[in-house]
Amino acid sequence: MKHTVTLQPSGHTFEVEPGESILRAGQAAGFAIPFSCRQGVCSTCRGKIVEGQVDLGEVHPAYLNEADRAAGFAHLCQASALSNVTIEIRELEGLAGVKVRKVPCRISRIEQPAPDVAIVHLRLPMNENMMFVAGQHIELILPGDVRRCYSIATKPNVDGVTALELHIRRMQGGLFTDGMLPKMKERELMRFEGPLGTFALREDSTKPIVFLASGTGFSAIKAMAEHAFGRNIHNKRPIHLYWGGRTRQDLYRADLAESWTKEFPGFHFIPVLSEATPACAWSGRTGFVHLAVLQDFPSMQEIEVYACGAPVMVEAARRDFIKDGGLAEDSFFADAFLSQADLNNPQANAATA
Ligand SMILES: Cc1cc2nc3c(=O)[nH]c(=O)nc-3n(C[C@H](O)[C@H](O)[C@H](O)COP(=O)(O)OP(=O)(O)OC[C@H]3O[C@@H](n4cnc5c(N)ncnc54)[C@H](O)[C@@H]3O)c2cc1C
Ligand code: FES
Repeated sequence: MKHTVTLQPSGHTFEVEPGESILRAGQAAGFAIPFSCRQGVCSTCRGKIVEGQVDLGEVHPAYLNEADRAAGFAHLCQASALSNVTIEIRELEGLAGVKVRKVPCRISRIEQPAPDVAIVHLRLPMNENMMFVAGQHIELILPGDVRRCYSIATKPNVDGVTALELHIRRMQGGLFTDGMLPKMKERELMRFEGPLGTFALREDSTKPIVFLASGTGFSAIKAMAEHAFGRNIHNKRPIHLYWGGRTRQDLYRADLAESWTKEFPGFHFIPVLSEATPACAWSGRTGFVHLAVLQDFPSMQEIEVYACGAPVMVEAARRDFIKDGGLAEDSFFADAFLSQADLNNPQANAATA
C-alpha cells in the first residue's frame, strides 16, 4: 500500500511505494530534496520525522548514531515509509530548469597547478548549453559504467555553458585519478551524467556566509563564490573563505582567492595549513581548517556554512560547529568527497579530524 509523505515547512506531498526510498519518490514527484551521495553517508538528505513511522534502511551507526535515531532523524535516501509520514526538511529552490542528462564531452585542456592536482577543462557539444546551479557536480562515466563524481568549478550562466572545469586530486591507487587520468590527453572523448546534487547557495537567506574547503573542495566553492560575486551577494552578506590544505601546494589557486579579496569588498580569504613544512615558508594560519573558523566565530548562531572536500573535514566541521559554535543544523550545507575507501570504511570517516 502506498503512503503519503508530507514535507514541512513547504507542505508539499507525494506518494511513496512500500520499500521505495523517500528521496527517490520525492525527486520523482519534482521536489528538490537535498542530496549528494545517495549512499546513506553524507547526511545531506537528513530529515526529521515529526509524524509517522519509517524504516531507516541501511545506514551505518557512524553516520546516524543512536541519539540521532532517537531524536527522529533519518537519511531520506535510505529511509522508506511504514505509514503516512510528515518530515521536516528544507527543500532547495532554484533547481527548476536544471535537467539531468548524459552528455558527451571532449577534454580541451589539462592544467597541473600542483603535483597531485589536475584542472581538467571539458568542452561540451555546441548545442548543449548546460544549465546547473553553482555547487552541483557531475558523474564521469568510465568504462563498465563505473562512475566518479566531480564538482563543477565553472560559474553557471543563465544561458547555459558549453565548457566545464573540474579540479581533480590524484588519489594513490585510485582507479580514475591514478590509473586513467595521468594517461589522458587533450581531445580525448568522455561522457558524464549531470548536473547532480543540491549543494547550492541559499539565496533566500541573509546570514553571513562561511565557505569552508579542503584541497580540491575549492572547486565547488569557486563556482559558488563567483556566482555570489555576479549576484552582488558579497555586498549584502559578508563572505569568509577558509581554505585548508596540508602544505602550500594543496592551495593550488590561492592566487585567485587572493585576487577576489582586492576585487570584492565584503570577501575575506583565510588560507590554513595543517602540516606546513619549511619549504612552505608559511607565516599564515595553521592547524585544522574548521578549527580556524571556530576560533574566528566562537558563536555561529547567525552564520551559514558551506563546506566541501574531505569527508573527515566535513564531518568534523558539522559536529563541532553545531556542538561548540551553536550553528543551526539547517545552516550547514556540504558536499563530502566520498571515495570507495570511505564507503568501505565508515569508521574512518566518522573519526576525529
Ligand atoms: C559529490 C562528490 C563530489 C566530488 N567532487 C570531487 C572533486 O571536485 N574533486 C576531487 O578531487 N574529488 C571529488 N570527489 C571524489 C571523487 O569522486 C573520487 O572518489 C576520487 O577522485 C577518487 O576516485 P578514483 O577512481 O581515483 O579512486 P577510487 O578507485 O575510488 O579509490 C579511492 C581510494 O580508495 C582506495 N580503494 C579503492 N577501493 C577500495 C576498497 N574496496 N576498500 C578500501 N579502499 C579502496 C584506493 O586505493 C584509493 O586510494 C567527489 C566525490 C563526491 C561524492
Ligand atoms: S544523500 Fe542521503 S546520506 Fe548522502
